[in-house]
Amino acid sequence: MAKPQVIILDNSEALFVRAAEEIVHISGESICTHGQFSLCLTGGNTPAEVYRLIATRFHLSVDWNAVHLFWGDERCVPPDDPASNYGMAHRTMLSTLNLDPSQIHRIKGEADPQTGAREYESDLRTFFSVGEGEFPRFDLILLGMGDNVHIASLFPGIPAIHEKRRLAVAVEVDAPQRDRISLTPPVLNNGARVMFIVSGQNKAAAVKTALEGVRDPDKYPAQIIDANQGEVMWLLDRPAASLLSASTPGS
Ligand code: 6PG
Repeated sequence: MAKPQVIILDNSEALFVRAAEEIVHISGESICTHGQFSLCLTGGNTPAEVYRLIATRFHLSVDWNAVHLFWGDERCVPPDDPASNYGMAHRTMLSTLNLDPSQIHRIKGEADPQTGAREYESDLRTFFSVGEGEFPRFDLILLGMGDNVHIASLFPGIPAIHEKRRLAVAVEVDAPQRDRISLTPPVLNNGARVMFIVSGQNKAAAVKTALEGVRDPDKYPAQIIDANQGEVMWLLDRPAASLLSASTPGS
C-alpha cells in the first residue's frame, strides 16, 4: 500500500502558505501538461486563509483562464448563506479573481438536495466527458477533515461511504447543516492528487486515527483516501501532527 506524504509545518501561517504554494505549483504543472487545471475545493474554515493567499499574494502565479473550480461538498443553503462553502470561497477568493462563470462549477446548495446532487453529477459528467461507470479525475482535490475524521460530507457510518456508482449524492449528517451534497468515495479516490490541509490541536486525535489508526473507513472516512490511486499529501501544522508517532514518515 503506497504511503501518503506527510508534511508538517511549524504553525498555521506556515501551513497556509505552503498549501497555497503547492496549489500554485500543481496548477502550473497541470496547465503545462494538459492545458487546464481542474481544482476541487474543500469547505469548512481551515482553507479560508489559503484561498485568500491564492487570490492576493499568489494570484499572478496562476494562469486563471485555464482553471476550473469545483467543490467536494456543499451544505444545502443558498450561496449567500454564511454556512455556504461556495460563499466562503467567493468571499475569500472568487470575488477578487473575476473568473468567467463557465469556470465555476458550484454545487447548488439552494436546490432540493436530490436535484442539486443530480445536477452536479451531470455537470461533472459533461465537463470530464465521463459516462456511466467512469469517474472524473481532478488534477487536485483539497480536503479538510473534521475532528470525527469525516471528509467532504462523508460522515462516519453514513451509507454514502459505500457508494460505488454515483459521483455526487445528497446526504443527511449529524452536524449543524444536516442536509448536504457530497462527492462520493470513487471520485475522491480518483484524483490525480489529493491534498489534506489540517490545522490545530483539536484535530490531532483525528489525524492520528486517520494515518495510524485501525483501518475502518466506515468509522473513519478519511481512511477512504487510498494512496494507490493517486498522490496523497497531508499538510499539517505541528499541533495537528502532535500525536503522530515517529514511524509516520515526515512526523
Ligand atoms: C464542510 C467540509 C468539511 C470540512 C471539515 C473540517 O463542508 O464542512 O467540506 O469536510 O473540511 O468539517 O472543517 P474545518 O476546517 O472548519 O475544521
